[in-house]
Amino acid sequence: MSRSQWTFRAHSLFKIFTCFLFFRLFDVLCSERTCCQYRGDPRIQLQVLTHPNMTVFRKCDLDNSIPQRFWISTLSTFSRLVVLDLKFICTDEILEVIGESCPLLEEVNIVSRVDICKSLFNASVLIRNVSDAGLCFITNLKQLRILAMDPPRNERALRIGRCVSQAGIIMLISELPYLEELRIESCDIGSTLIGSAMDIGPLSLRKINCHFASADGIRKLIKICPFLRELSVTHLSEHNKDAILEQISMSELRLNRLDLSFFSYSDSMQQLLTVKGSYLTHFSLWEIDHSLTLDAVLSLGRCCPNLTTLCLMTQSKWLVIPRFFRRPNKIFSELRNLTIGNENFNIDQMLTFFVECTNNLQRLVLKYQTKTNIDETLLHLLEKGHLRNVNYLWLDCTLEVSKHVVKRIIQVCERLQMFTVDFSEEMSDVHKYINENNLDLKLGSY
Ligand SMILES: *[C@@H]1O[C@H](CO)[C@@H](O)[C@H](O)[C@H]1NC(C)=O
Ligand SMILES: *[C@@H]1O[C@H](CO)[C@@H](O)[C@H](O)[C@H]1NC(C)=O
Ligand SMILES: *[C@@H]1O[C@H](CO)[C@@H](O)[C@H](O)[C@H]1NC(C)=O
Ligand SMILES: *[C@@H]1O[C@H](CO)[C@@H](O)[C@H](O)[C@H]1NC(C)=O
Ligand SMILES: *[C@@H]1O[C@H](CO)[C@@H](O)[C@H](O)[C@H]1NC(C)=O
Repeated sequence: MSRSQWTFRAHSLFKIFTCFLFFRLFDVLCSERTCCQYRGDPRIQLQVLTHPNMTVFRKCDLDNSIPQRFWISTLSTFSRLVVLDLKFICTDEILEVIGESCPLLEEVNIVSRVDICKSLFNASVLIRNVSDAGLCFITNLKQLRILAMDPPRNERALRIGRCVSQAGIIMLISELPYLEELRIESCDIGSTLIGSAMDIGPLSLRKINCHFASADGIRKLIKICPFLRELSVTHLSEHNKDAILEQISMSELRLNRLDLSFFSYSDSMQQLLTVKGSYLTHFSLWEIDHSLTLDAVLSLGRCCPNLTTLCLMTQSKWLVIPRFFRRPNKIFSELRNLTIGNENFNIDQMLTFFVECTNNLQRLVLKYQTKTNIDETLLHLLEKGHLRNVNYLWLDCTLEVSKHVVKRIIQVCERLQMFTVDFSEEMSDVHKYINENNLDLKLGSY
């Protein structure tokens, strides 16, 4: 390469670099605009803080009042957008523009604008403005990885305004080859996929929740979503819980996160953890029939060496630590987040057990259903230094904690940022202590 060629290269690289920084500057400015109070027309602020080459645009609450015309003309010039959030602004007309003008989008929120009107009987009715027709335009956005949208219409409810349907959602996601995450509030995405008559998949979805599943349903779901990383299953009926677990065990899935509600610690659960446990970093079990024993917990720990987050909800009477128990080494050692509840186990024993296993607990949530004083337990753990890295502590309102223990926690846990505890005593001096020492701590009660 000749010298002049080289300078030319350097020059253009420099130009690209500064351009890049320049556009990023607008991304940042625009994302910071909620920090300052601005009372004027939000469009004026937007005109100053946006740039046709910006890559990230997230609406703020003020923007909800801006008419559709503005978005249609502005968004048609934002052809470099990668992230776009139009929550409560979106309409089919806007989706048409996005589908044509923003081919690089990877993350989008298209939750509909909602207008509220009164029905004949003066009940409030929400009118949405995104329908399956709008979803069709979005099928153009082949780079999409994350999509947030409305739940499908309840077919039996009176249809008012535009709404998306289950068939529309399925049509859309089967057109998006890289879609990893579908965020639809209060929607059972798993059951929607399982129930579809269309032949879909394999999809790239990484994260699915599924309620009221059957073993057949789970098998179908795994076939549709072979790349699942996070799965949440709730099961209410008595039979075939084990058959569901067996389907997961037999699959090729490498789940990082598994949430199981209303299951038992059965042989099938043990088998599942034996074959899949090493992939898990997050595991949550809501156990319902006294199947959780100390042996089960130890086995869980051995099967899942990489767990960082664990939630165990149980009312098991058999979760007991015998006298002269020797805690095995190297189980639950990576644990950072722990939630335990509900009842019957000895909270002092179980908490001490977990906290002694890990040396870097950061987030602790304790639930319990009967009034219990845990001063002694907490003081003991504080003294041993087991809570020194905790930044989030949530103690159920049934757990009694004295004021001097609350103070001690605040003094010892230097990283604590959120602390929720039931105050039975007057706490103004504690709040004063927090203020005077300028602690970055939110202390909350019930
Ligand atoms: C946007 O970026 C492209 C390529 O980097 C550049 O040619 C164009 O002039 C930019 N547009 C504006 C309005 O700055
Ligand atoms: C609805 O509200 C309006 C005004 O508040 C009232 O005049 C009307 O009678 C109400 N209709 C019904 C069906 O309650
Ligand atoms: C949706 O928005 C468009 C444009 O603002 C409007 O013309 C239309 O009536 C709205 N649709 C519904 C169902 O409210
Ligand atoms: C989990 O931990 C084991 C042993 O600690 C390690 O060999 C393995 O690579 C880890 N697995 C994953 C998926 O991270
Ligand atoms: C612990 O939980 C918090 C809140 O859910 C989460 O943001 C964090 O990533 C978790 N930490 C680990 C190590 O999993």
